[in-house]
Amino acid sequence: PPVVARTLPALRRALGELRRRNASVALVPTMGALHDGHISLVRLAKRRADKVVVSVFVNPTQFAPNEDFGSYPRTWKADAAKLAAENVDLIWNPDVKAMYPEGFASRIGVDGPAVAGLEDRFRPHFFGGVATVVGKLFMQVRPDFAIFGSKDYQQLRVVTRMAADLDTGVKVIGAPTVRERDGLAMSSRNVYLSPEQRQIAPTLYRAMKEVAKLLKAGKSADAAVAVGSKLITEAGFALDYLEARHAETLAPVRSLKDGPIRLLVAAKIGTTRLIDNIAV
Ligand code: PAJ
Repeated sequence: PPVVARTLPALRRALGELRRRNASVALVPTMGALHDGHISLVRLAKRRADKVVVSVFVNPTQFAPNEDFGSYPRTWKADAAKLAAENVDLIWNPDVKAMYPEGFASRIGVDGPAVAGLEDRFRPHFFGGVATVVGKLFMQVRPDFAIFGSKDYQQLRVVTRMAADLDTGVKVIGAPTVRERDGLAMSSRNVYLSPEQRQIAPTLYRAMKEVAKLLKAGKSADAAVAVGSKLITEAGFALDYLEARHAETLAPVRSLKDGPIRLLVAAKIGTTRLIDNIAV
């Protein structure tokens, strides 16, 4: 079974062992409640590096007070079993006090087009919390590679920016989104959905597919997005955003003539907020 470290001294000891004979290390940061999407990242990490470290830490600084930090699913036993089955080398599972000791007062902030709009408009605390904890994870583990899912596309762009800007030396690798058979992107938050909501949830993916089709047929981003938005709201979602952005810079685009497009969506069904995105 993998070594489990819960304190920084234990992590350092375990990393010292792993790094003997110059082994390369890949880190997969997670908040636990692991599903096949997370496991796909672990498998990609195994192909990239000699040793794989998975962090399991529900990070309080990326949740606003009114969000689901308290009720976020915590399934440690099942997570540890899944990671053991994947032959992960080390699990970094600090508690909040180990990550944010008494008096903790620093923060990593990312500005610029990658953070402008989309999630940041609805969760202004989010990317600061993510950049801070991922920056800490990079300094704690000092991995050669870090694997992030395209499921959280804006997060992937923000973390890539931060890793380069702060000279971390960590190569950030994006991995494809793993979906259920009906197209719903796998997410730890899908467990919140009632059976009825679960039926409706794949509408997000279907609507983005429709928007992509219209864009490829030459429609403007505004016109295509209007069609997709209607599909989503008529299915019973409260839409936060559906937007066509430049796939690399995340700058707004008017049509496919402006470059490769990423469609990004966030919507609430009942009290559950889902996000997803696709390449056009
Ligand atoms: P979490 O939501 O647990 O996701 C951990 C990683 O799994 C992220 O890189 C996310 O993009 C990826 N992931 C989630 N669902 C996926 C899917 N269906 N297919 C492929 N990859 C998927 O994202 C976070 O945690 C946190 O913000 C974190 C980066 C750990 C910082 O706290």
